[in-house]
Amino acid sequence: MNNFEITVPTTIVFGKDQLAQVVKQIHKHYDGQKLLVLYGGGSVERSGFLDRLKDALSSFERHFFKGIEANPEFETLMKAVEYIREHNIGFMLAVGGGSVIDGVKFISGAVNYAGDPWEVLQRKPGTEFTSAVPFGCILTIPATGSESNSGAVISRAELKEKRTMGGPLFFPKFALLDPTFVATLPKRQLANGVIDAFMHTMEQYLTYPSGNLLQERYAEGILSTLIEIGPKVVEHPEDYKLASNLMWCANQALNGVLRCGVATDWATHMIGHELTALHGIDHAQTLAIVAPRLYELKFENKAEKLAQYGRRVWQLEGSDREVAAAAIRNTEAFFHTLGVKTRISEYTTDYMETPAIVKQRFTERNWLKLGERQDLTLGKKAL
Ligand code: NZQ
Ligand code: ZN
Repeated sequence: MNNFEITVPTTIVFGKDQLAQVVKQIHKHYDGQKLLVLYGGGSVERSGFLDRLKDALSSFERHFFKGIEANPEFETLMKAVEYIREHNIGFMLAVGGGSVIDGVKFISGAVNYAGDPWEVLQRKPGTEFTSAVPFGCILTIPATGSESNSGAVISRAELKEKRTMGGPLFFPKFALLDPTFVATLPKRQLANGVIDAFMHTMEQYLTYPSGNLLQERYAEGILSTLIEIGPKVVEHPEDYKLASNLMWCANQALNGVLRCGVATDWATHMIGHELTALHGIDHAQTLAIVAPRLYELKFENKAEKLAQYGRRVWQLEGSDREVAAAAIRNTEAFFHTLGVKTRISEYTTDYMETPAIVKQRFTERNWLKLGERQDLTLGKKAL
């Protein structure tokens, strides 16, 4: 088992009818009055939730910022940064999915940053966010795990770029996980949530046997649960049992616990982010495109773990190689049962230049060796 360190400081409040807990949590972390609620394109207005939230927060001086896009956009987030500076906001409440929560993480760091915050996302030497406006969140879509981790992914459309950031400053103070939000999600977002949670687990599992037996069983538990509930929750998002299991799986898949003591891959995500930046394909869809092909490409390196995955998660039988190959086929078929396509040509016709652009970007960033063995290189077959 590898050495590890873990801190998971975000308080999780799980379940329905818990708005009073949100107010208590804010008071616990903020003794001022000025609160900014940030949300996305309006799903929380349409569901009537925002009105209930306004009532619950009536003891605060409430401000609102609407319009954080899916794949949160730098320009929009900078408007929120200006608003916070102008109005002296002391606490933020993110109401939404990974995009709103990630956006709020970025805003929280950018508010007190003197230079151009894009430099920090570019990882220019000597640049970093050194303080963060405290924030909590209300999760409306189970997928990313952003509600209790410290990472964020920010897009800049004019540059067709998507950049990551993070660090201990950016853990939400608390997260409300209310599965009743799942009921209003469109099928596409439900399938995205299942696949993102599945792939977060795979990135921290489908490597090589780690010696951390508990973590491997834990990952297999999440994968098995997602296979069991995934297709059902896409059809019946109003089913509280299904919805709550999806929400908890998605949270557990990326709250930091799975990575303890094990090797991690993350190459599917790094390539996938470029497909979103270049083609606007949904995050989870990019993972469904990249992962099966990446597992085929790295079959020899991953064969041992693929066989373990095939036997324990898919109950497959046969030789190691047969089981490993069938496990990849089952994974791709699972994505199909969720209604998600796994070929880039099914999303765009404009992909011929994509490998060259990705290769150039990874070269500029010195991302020359990816994967758990640092052996996924930019050779001709890298994509
Ligand atoms: O904006 P609104 O109107 O709310 O609509 C949203 C949005 O269009 C809608 N939605 C959310 N909750 C809803 C709802 N519609 C109806 N009912 C509800 N209850 O869903 C759409 C997608 O929302 P978004 O927040 O973009 O989805 P997701 O949670 O999948 O987040 C994706 C973003 O997170 C990043 C991705 O790259 C992408 O930018 N990621 C963040 C990670 C992290 N911080 O740890 C890790 C991930 O790997 C990922 O990269
Ligand atoms: Zn993801």
